[in-house]
Amino acid sequence: MRIALIGSNGQLGSDLLPRLQTTGHDVVPLRHADIEITDAANVFAVLGSVQPDLILNTAAYNLVDKAEDEPDVAMSVNASGPQNLARLCATEKWRLMHISTDYVFGEAAGPTSRPWTELDVAIPTGRYGLSKWTGEQFVQKECPRSFVVRTCGLYGLAALRDGGKGNFVETMLRLGRERQQLRVVDDQRCTPTSTADLADALVKLIATDAFGLYHATNSDSMTWCEFAREIFRLAKLDVEVIPISTVEFGAKAKRPAYSVLDCSKLAPVIDGPLPDWHDALARYLASHPA
Ligand SMILES: NC(=O)c1ccc[n+]([C@@H]2O[C@H](COP(=O)([O-])OP(=O)(O)OC[C@H]3O[C@@H](n4cnc5c(N)ncnc54)[C@H](OP(=O)(O)O)[C@@H]3O)[C@@H](O)[C@H]2O)c1
Repeated sequence: MRIALIGSNGQLGSDLLPRLQTTGHDVVPLRHADIEITDAANVFAVLGSVQPDLILNTAAYNLVDKAEDEPDVAMSVNASGPQNLARLCATEKWRLMHISTDYVFGEAAGPTSRPWTELDVAIPTGRYGLSKWTGEQFVQKECPRSFVVRTCGLYGLAALRDGGKGNFVETMLRLGRERQQLRVVDDQRCTPTSTADLADALVKLIATDAFGLYHATNSDSMTWCEFAREIFRLAKLDVEVIPISTVEFGAKAKRPAYSVLDCSKLAPVIDGPLPDWHDALARYLASHPA
């Protein structure tokens, strides 16, 4: 399959590129310098010359707190961008895969709720979640041959590169080397996910015709505090992690208290669930460059 990979130098795009190439696809990697998804004319010109069978869109505006100050920018990248891609794919009869987020689920459920399924009604709270939810709607309504995949808290090695934007694991490692004590939020439950494992799952999903909405995260769940403790244990860093509340942390954007995703719809389509998060984190840390 000929695939236009948008956001090819981001965290997820960087793990997708080699996997798509080694499974025999003809991949055209597109960085932000190569395509501007918010500009319909540019999208039509660039992708018109690529003529893909599938557009795989990993590009997004991911600055959750900053989105509260610049909601128009977030909406433009996360909603108008995917809409441009969906329209073009529908016209050209190309397939589209688009990535979304657990942040489409706002505060409606408490920490004792069951994991969210694809059939649950999403009610985003913050501007980032709202922009991503709007993007999902455009893709699903305008492009019938589309996959929309919601995931959570991505971490990939591309975050380490020059110009990389970092991720939670890298932030903890940096702070853990500088401090002996850290305060980490313990009342948000979700499943941060390795982009390597997500990329493996997406490569399997695009090989099917099972279009639709999916949840895809590593298995099991944790709070950010639990995640931080496991990072320090595996990295052999002696850091005391003090649990605090979301209110004490005081981030600008609201975040879901519980955004664990039920991934049981995806598992049979790709022959099994994504690995457990402990295993994913251990492999990520083991693959760190020395
Ligand atoms: N990161 C997370 O924790 C997380 C959690 C849940 C879901 N997701 C979703 O997963 C997907 C992949 O995330 P990621 O962490 O791999 O993102 P990432 O590392 O930030 O990569 C996104 C890429 O998109 C490019 N891009 C941004 N705006 C663009 C535009 N207007 N036109 C074209 N390219 C543009 C970026 O280029 P520049 O950097 O040069 O602008 C970057 O290469 C996104 O849809 C995201 O919303 C992420």
